[in-house]
Amino acid sequence: MKVDGKHYRSIWFNEEAGCAQIIDQRWLPHEFRVVDLETREDFAASIRDMWVRGAPLIGATAAFAISAEMKRDPSDANLDEAWDELHATRPTAINLRWALNEMRNTLRPLPEAERAEAAHKRALEVNDEDVETNRMIGVHGLEIIRKIAAKKKPGEVVNILTHCNAGWLATVDWGTATSPMYHAQAAGIPIHIWVDETRPRNQGALLTSWEMNSHDIPHHLIVDNAGGHLMQHGQVDLVIVGTDRTTAHGDVCNKIGTYLKALAAYDNNVPFYVALPSPTIDWTVKDGVTEIPIEERDGEEVTHVQGKLPDGSIGSVQISPDGTPGGNPAFDVTPRRLITGLITERGVCEPSPEGLAAMFPDRVLD
Ligand code: MRU
Repeated sequence: MKVDGKHYRSIWFNEEAGCAQIIDQRWLPHEFRVVDLETREDFAASIRDMWVRGAPLIGATAAFAISAEMKRDPSDANLDEAWDELHATRPTAINLRWALNEMRNTLRPLPEAERAEAAHKRALEVNDEDVETNRMIGVHGLEIIRKIAAKKKPGEVVNILTHCNAGWLATVDWGTATSPMYHAQAAGIPIHIWVDETRPRNQGALLTSWEMNSHDIPHHLIVDNAGGHLMQHGQVDLVIVGTDRTTAHGDVCNKIGTYLKALAAYDNNVPFYVALPSPTIDWTVKDGVTEIPIEERDGEEVTHVQGKLPDGSIGSVQISPDGTPGGNPAFDVTPRRLITGLITERGVCEPSPEGLAAMFPDRVLD
């Protein structure tokens, strides 16, 4: 999508520099910094410390990491070591494991001399596939928005609430939850987005708002607790969120606070949709609450808030008393009974074993 009118992906391979480059998201929206990723440690740190984040982008970054490693040392031992080190960086988003497996399964059967080139090619494909997948999520999600708009008076705005950042910065391009929004805007449907700030790291405030501004999509930033109130007062027509891992039975793990939004939506008959590329489905797990590992992040993300200081620099301020520890589970699970539908690249399906199996008969395990 666009930054100051210029098209960007969130990650790309720079042929001249000979390495992958990313937009370093730790400084957005206040500073736009592009960073080279060259060594295994660069890649691992970029995922672990959230220079890049969002499930699909984490996967795309891991694919470039394996490609860089194969250039350095294409041995089986190095492939396995890199797989293990990268896999340990963030535990919840399943796209990481998906991309690492995709790369290893492509490379393992090849002679070492062919691995660097094959890895580069597959990493580029993984990235391109993500872009096309998300575009298709937008095509299918648009129909949901179109139906809601059709029930309104001509020109009346469709209000969509979203949580965290499942925008283009969380993917290679388009975003998942935001792709239907861009498609609706292009189709001339008037939309307005309620952007949850998404404490503790404020991905909504910092990233989604920035994306909406860049594309002139009308929006308001709201505190995380405002959603229920807005729904009670008819100010939310639908919710669209992303996901870090969706089970084969349709439970959805996403940024902490998503579950509470789903409860409020259910109580107010507001449709609650989850947008996801198929690599986000973990076909090996069924019950999200008991089977998905939830990342516990540093408590300092809760006790401190980062932002632009009056002198224009970026800094962090402590908002709690000295000595109060922060508790920081980063994700929660929304049970499928609270979800209206899953928007995938193949179409919209029910969040159920049957719904997912019918949409992906070639992927389902049993
Ligand atoms: O901790 P983050 O910022 O990586 O969490 C991101 C989310 O929870 C997104 O909603 C999810 O990855 C879907 S991104 C298309």
